[in-house]
Amino acid sequence: MGTDSALRDWINNEPMEVRTASRASKPAVDQEVCNVGPVIMLGAPGAGKGTQAKLISARYGIPQISTGDLLRDNVMRGTALGQEARKFMDRGELVPDNLIYGMLSDRLKLADCNKGFILEGFPRNLAQAELLYHSLHNGFFGADCKVPPIVISIAVDYNSLLQRLTGRRSCPSCGRIYNIYTQPPKTAGLCDLDGANLMMRRDDTEGVISDRLRAYESMTVPLKAYYGERGRLVNVDGNQPLEQVTAATMQAIGKNGNSV
Ligand code: AP5
Ligand code: MG
Repeated sequence: MGTDSALRDWINNEPMEVRTASRASKPAVDQEVCNVGPVIMLGAPGAGKGTQAKLISARYGIPQISTGDLLRDNVMRGTALGQEARKFMDRGELVPDNLIYGMLSDRLKLADCNKGFILEGFPRNLAQAELLYHSLHNGFFGADCKVPPIVISIAVDYNSLLQRLTGRRSCPSCGRIYNIYTQPPKTAGLCDLDGANLMMRRDDTEGVISDRLRAYESMTVPLKAYYGERGRLVNVDGNQPLEQVTAATMQAIGKNGNSV
């Protein structure tokens, strides 16, 4: 893969093989896979999309683009978009597509996306998936980005999702994600990296979590079939310890990327 025709035809590609060789000993930024292409992180709220996206970003030197983070940034800054989006986010509903598209396309036009990018939280319904397909097909995201997308679908049991979401804490300064049960900071409540006070997300309350999970089931789960039928889906067991989830994810990306 890695050609114009591969991009045009990714919709009909054969199922992916997963590389068996371990890449655990590779350097921090992987020079071998220099054109990673679009990586789509799919999974329920709390599945570990953001956690893995940060590791992929560090490994391959491509940006993590989280629609949730972009929206929360707008909410925090009180922009018109943020004020509108907040109503939906606080109810655990999807934000209307038109708000997402403008925000995301502005970000994807930046030059740092040319070698690839990690989409966390997008697409989230079939309309968004179709928009992404046509945008990639038309070369909208930069001349060098010709690798077809790979979709990492992380599955986690319901009870673990609840524990992960209620136990999640994030650093408002550097974005590092912790969990008071499974990945606590060295000092309770403080970021290991910069000492900032860790925050709990507004939508990580049990009432909103159940609505987010319902939205995921009805709107986002159909994307597994959408990408599976197109041979772009790699299923990863997200119930495993973090390092094993990361290893499976990196294997899949290494196989998809454009090695030179
Ligand atoms: P968004 O911010 O995307 O939230 P989400 O999809 O609900 O997913 P999360 O960020 O909660 O979970 P995650 O999978 O990233 O898990 P994480 O890595 O943090 O969206 C928020 C809202 O914005 C939506 O509800 C919607 O309103 C709106 N929105 C966003 N995008 C949209 C779009 N495209 N269209 C419309 N609306 C949109 O991990 C969770 C916890 O688990 C952490 O504490 C972590 O430390 C822990 N953990 C991770 N991996 C492991 C592991 N292997 N073992 C143990 N613990 C682990
Ligand atoms: Mg996230």
